Amino acid sequence: MSTGTMKKSHSQWSSRMGFMLAAAGSAVGLGNIWKFPYMAGQMGGSAFVLTYLLFMFMIGLPILVLEWLIGRRGQKNPIHTMEDVAVAEGRSKSWRWVGIIGVLGSFLILSFYSVIGGWATDYIFLAAKGTFEGVNGEVTGQIFADFLGNVNHLLTWHTVFMFATAFIVALGVGAGLERACKVMMPGLGILLLILVAYAAYVSGPSFGQAFRFLFTPDFSAIGGTAMLAALGHAFFSLSLGMGIMMAYGSYLGKDVNLLSTARTVVIMDVIVAMLSGLAIFPLVFANGLEPGSGPGLIFVTLPIAFGNMAGGTILGVLFFIFLTFAALTSSISLLEPTVELLEEKTHMGRKTATTVSSVLIWALGIACILAFNEWADIKLFNKNIFDLLDYLTSKIMLPITGLGTVIFGAWMMKQDLIRKELNLGPFWFSIWTLLTRFIIPVAIVIILVFGLIQ
Ligand code: PFF
Repeated sequence: MSTGTMKKSHSQWSSRMGFMLAAAGSAVGLGNIWKFPYMAGQMGGSAFVLTYLLFMFMIGLPILVLEWLIGRRGQKNPIHTMEDVAVAEGRSKSWRWVGIIGVLGSFLILSFYSVIGGWATDYIFLAAKGTFEGVNGEVTGQIFADFLGNVNHLLTWHTVFMFATAFIVALGVGAGLERACKVMMPGLGILLLILVAYAAYVSGPSFGQAFRFLFTPDFSAIGGTAMLAALGHAFFSLSLGMGIMMAYGSYLGKDVNLLSTARTVVIMDVIVAMLSGLAIFPLVFANGLEPGSGPGLIFVTLPIAFGNMAGGTILGVLFFIFLTFAALTSSISLLEPTVELLEEKTHMGRKTATTVSSVLIWALGIACILAFNEWADIKLFNKNIFDLLDYLTSKIMLPITGLGTVIFGAWMMKQDLIRKELNLGPFWFSIWTLLTRFIIPVAIVIILVFGLIQ
C-alpha cells in the first residue's frame, strides 16, 4: 500500500481486503436489492437479466479495472486524476471532463438514492412494530401507497438517511465502517439465502415460474430499451462512470492484482442481485402481484414473507437493517466526490464541504419525494423528476463517462504499460485489447443510440 499518497479519509484501508471491501461496499447496495428486481420485472425478466449479466462481465469488469488502474496512476480526485494522467500520456487536459461528468452524476444519483435509503430505514421500524404480521399483498401494497403519499414522513427519513451519510463522510471513512461492512455484508448474504429458501418453500410452483422468468433465454425480447437499461444498470451496480472507483483506485498499492480483485467484486455484486431476484419473484407470482410494478416492488413483496413466516418480524427487522447498511456503504461513496471537489476547489474544510454538499443534495432529494405524490403530474419528457434523474444518470451520463474511460484507457494510454500492470500474457492481452479498443466502445455507442431513439 502506498500509504504516503493515501488520502486522509480512506487511510485506514490498508490491505487488499480492506480495499475490496470498500469497493464491494460501494457496489453492493440498493442497486442490487431494490433496483435490479424491479427493473427485471419491468423489462420482461430474463431478457434483461441475461443482457445485464453479459454486460457486467464483458463491459463492467474491464471498465472497473480501467478506473482502478487510472486512479492508481493519478492518485488524486477523479477530475485531477484524469487531467494528470492525460498530460502524462501527452494528451489533452480536456479528458478531465470524464471526471467532471462523473462527479455531477454522483451528486444527482445521491439525491434519489437517499430518498430510497430513507424508505429502507423507515421499514426497519415498520417491521419492528409488527406492521406486517399476517399481511397479504393487498395490505402491503396499501401500506406502501399510504407511505408514498405522506410527504412529511418521506422527508423525515430522507433527512435521517442523508444525515447519517454526511456524518460518516465528515468523519472520514474510518475503521468503524470497514468493520461494519465486514459483519454486514456476510449477514446480508445469509439473510438473502434464508429468504430465497423461504420463498422456494412457501411458493411451490411459483418458484419455478420465477426461475424461468429470470433465467429462461428469450432473445426475441432483447430490444434496444432493455439493452440500454441493462447497460446503465451494470454501470450503476458497479458504481462505474462516477469517478468513484477511480478515487478508490487512487488509494491502492501497486501490489494489488486489479483483474482478480475486480472479478471478485463483480461476482459478489451479481450474486446479491440474483439472490434478491430469487427471493422476490416467487412471492410476486405466488401472491398474484404485478412484477412490473416499479420502485415499490421489494417494499410490497418482502413484507408478505416477513409477515407470514415464523420469526418473520425479527428477520424483517434484520433485513431492513442490512439493506440500510448496504445503502449507506454506497451512499457515502456517492457523497465523497462532491465533498472532495469542494474541499480542493474552495479550500473549505472537510466538515463544511460535507455540510454544503449534503444540503444541496438533500434539497434536490425533496423534489424526488414530491415526484411520488404532490408533483406526480409534473412531467418532462413524459417522466416525473425521480424517473428523469434516474434516466439521465443511469442511461445517459454513466454510459458516456464509461465510454470516455474506455477510450482513454485503450487508445490514449501506453498499452505495453497496461499489459505489464495487468500481468497479462499475449493471448489474454489480445482479448483485453479487442474488448477495450473495439467491442466495448462500439457496443456502448450502438446501445446508447438505439436505446435513446427507441
Ligand atoms: N452501486 C450502488 C448500488 O448498486 O446500489 C449504487 C452506487 C453507488 C452507484 C456508488 C454509483 C456509485 F458511484
